[in-house]
Amino acid sequence: MSKTTIVIFGGTGDLAQRKLIPALYNLRRKRRLDGEVNVVGFARAQHGDDSYRGLLQEGARELGGLETTPEEWAEFARCLHYVCGDLGDAAAFEELGRKLAEVEGTDGANRLFYFAIAPSLHRLAAEGLRDAGLTTEESGWRRVIVEKPFGKDEESARELNRALHNVFRENQTFRIDHYLGKETVQNLLVLRFGNAIFEPLWNRNYVDNVQVTVSEAVDVEGRAGYYDGSGVVRDMIQNHLMQLMCLVAMEPPDSLAPESVRDRKGDLLRAVRRWTPEEFREHAVRAQYAGYSDEPGVAPGSVTPTYAALRLYVDNWRWQGVPFYLRSGKAMEEKVSEIIIQFKNPPLAMFERLGGSGFAPNILSICVQPDEGVHLQIDSKAVDAGFITHPVDLSFHYKDELRLGQELPEAYERLLEDAMEGDASLFIRADQIEEAWNIVDPLLKCWESPEASPPETYGQGTWGPSGSAGLLRQDGFLWQTLCGGH
Ligand code: BG6
Repeated sequence: MSKTTIVIFGGTGDLAQRKLIPALYNLRRKRRLDGEVNVVGFARAQHGDDSYRGLLQEGARELGGLETTPEEWAEFARCLHYVCGDLGDAAAFEELGRKLAEVEGTDGANRLFYFAIAPSLHRLAAEGLRDAGLTTEESGWRRVIVEKPFGKDEESARELNRALHNVFRENQTFRIDHYLGKETVQNLLVLRFGNAIFEPLWNRNYVDNVQVTVSEAVDVEGRAGYYDGSGVVRDMIQNHLMQLMCLVAMEPPDSLAPESVRDRKGDLLRAVRRWTPEEFREHAVRAQYAGYSDEPGVAPGSVTPTYAALRLYVDNWRWQGVPFYLRSGKAMEEKVSEIIIQFKNPPLAMFERLGGSGFAPNILSICVQPDEGVHLQIDSKAVDAGFITHPVDLSFHYKDELRLGQELPEAYERLLEDAMEGDASLFIRADQIEEAWNIVDPLLKCWESPEASPPETYGQGTWGPSGSAGLLRQDGFLWQTLCGGH
């Protein structure tokens, strides 16, 4: 029977409590963990194993919404252990080594190191592990999951890749983007490549524009300490939205083998037109929600954007000339992650002669969350009303497929399972991270220059600044949604 230890750096943090522990708990409940799995949390706070288990029980319930009985939790909690230490302290890694020896026994175990810590600490953690001899592979595989943000620009991402590669090979390195673990995001591959009707239309001849929206109703939720130094481009666009764009626009891979999928995503990112900082002024809008500067932890006079919308082009055979619009923001009217493919109108002259009214464009909407599913908007004749037409919606909702009591799995469940199986398809390769930064770096440079005009302000609970609608209006389009309420 295999044995695996997951070492969580940042073991007392928000991610561990909110996502990782609930995901591991659910995997165990569903009997999806292969063999014996132990968790060792590593962080600076003082805890023994017992108080650590208590912290996680409360955190997983309150932050992660995990429902358990005391008996079920007690059974699970036996696998949780803790080491208190500082990443800069060699003695802490020795202590970790002792704990691993105790937990793993004489036969040893596979080890999955999870870096749920600030990016500035990734290098320290990797080198500390190597120097303490904890990454050698004689008693099992060693892999590392690295949380986002991966660097803060292209240069720092390259530097981090180099530092990690001094300790782990690329095939041991799993850069996580939890959007790739979402059921609907994985379904994009099936929708596009498992159905005959879409591929002939999926190109510049039929598609007018593509829109990717990830709006959040929540504000910075007390995370301003991190967020104010990042902003929406580093927090959401460079990673989650770029990955969604890759899956929508990439060429078909030969197979679902990790390198086939990742090669095609890399090709797509390389084909995205690079705007200079000056050009980005015409192709992007940023804004901050009203009241952001009053959030605790926000620097006085901060110009950090909490909303951004941008226009990109993919200069390849399939997509030449088709605008891709990406937008994301916090404190917006509702939480919606949606991909819109808007198709070109057919010639409508015959209806005009018959006195018909306007036609809505055909739209395919892939709703990533919250109402996971797919919608197709088509035009139809209103009943008994001449050629008056109206748009109607053909829809599929995941929730209609769920068995009683079944829920869509959390993204972290799938990703942790894949990392333990060594399947990197849903993780990001070094070159993709660097390419994605290469696309947004000029935007950051444009907005972070002292001459940049301040961001627009938008009201909390709205759909963002007026400039965002203006960006699409310049091209004769509107932001569309079939799964949001606006
Ligand atoms: C994280 C960002 O990566 O994604 C957060 O750091 C954001 O700021 C979160 O709230 C959104 O994830 P989801 O799965 O709720 O859409």
